[in-house]
Amino acid sequence: MPFARSEATKPSPASQRIEALSAFESLEAAASLRSSQTACQRKLPGQSHNVAYLNNRFMKTPTRQEALNYLSGAEKRNPGPWIAHSRHVAEAAEAIAARHPRMEPEAAYILGCLHDIGRQDKERGIRHILTGYRFFRARGYEDAARICLTHSFPIKDASASASPWDGTEEEFRFLEDYLARTDYDDYDRLVQLCDALALPTGFCLIEKRLVDVALRYGFNGLTLPKWKATFELQREFEAAIGRSIYSVLPGVVENTFGFSPGR
Ligand SMILES: [Fe+2]
Repeated sequence: MPFARSEATKPSPASQRIEALSAFESLEAAASLRSSQTACQRKLPGQSHNVAYLNNRFMKTPTRQEALNYLSGAEKRNPGPWIAHSRHVAEAAEAIAARHPRMEPEAAYILGCLHDIGRQDKERGIRHILTGYRFFRARGYEDAARICLTHSFPIKDASASASPWDGTEEEFRFLEDYLARTDYDDYDRLVQLCDALALPTGFCLIEKRLVDVALRYGFNGLTLPKWKATFELQREFEAAIGRSIYSVLPGVVENTFGFSPGR
């Protein structure tokens, strides 16, 4: 990307986005960005994917409609509660990102929607992260692929999955290496957080979801550090949006405690 220049002549971040997008896509796309100095995500004419400018780089994702199509196709292959969970992760990610100073809600929705796509191959254990990663890498969606792998690891330890490892030794070594050399961005961390507050029935208190997972899979030596990392994510995003994450997620009380406030 063309950003090597002196501070004295450095253009504004918005101008940089437009200039870089010109190089990356087309002049027509750059013109569409000029209509908004803050917008940095567009479904471009004639394209079947979104391009977002994030963290000094471009992110190419499927469109929102394509993401929903991937999920409905996955539901046909392997129906189950994971589909509704994925939709709620997407909605939570969008709601939080909409109030975040650095994030694009559309990209957050799409990446949240697709994080568990590996389950379409009837993967019931942690190996779904690998099948999801391969699925999106094969389609050129590197960020969606990465989040398929990272969403289960608020701590960068390949042994930290809730369910027992069900892949091969080689796949485990790949995951270890991948986590070690990958810097998480806001989207990795947001999907990790939202994965921990979305039941198939809706949004809930993080504590409820963590206990729900522990009841199904039990504890290991990394369960507690993982829980602490999840609460650290909650603190990080609440600081960024300036309010409780639960204040932007409708139905948390009903879904956590089984009653409607005021009734
Ligand atoms: Fe998930």
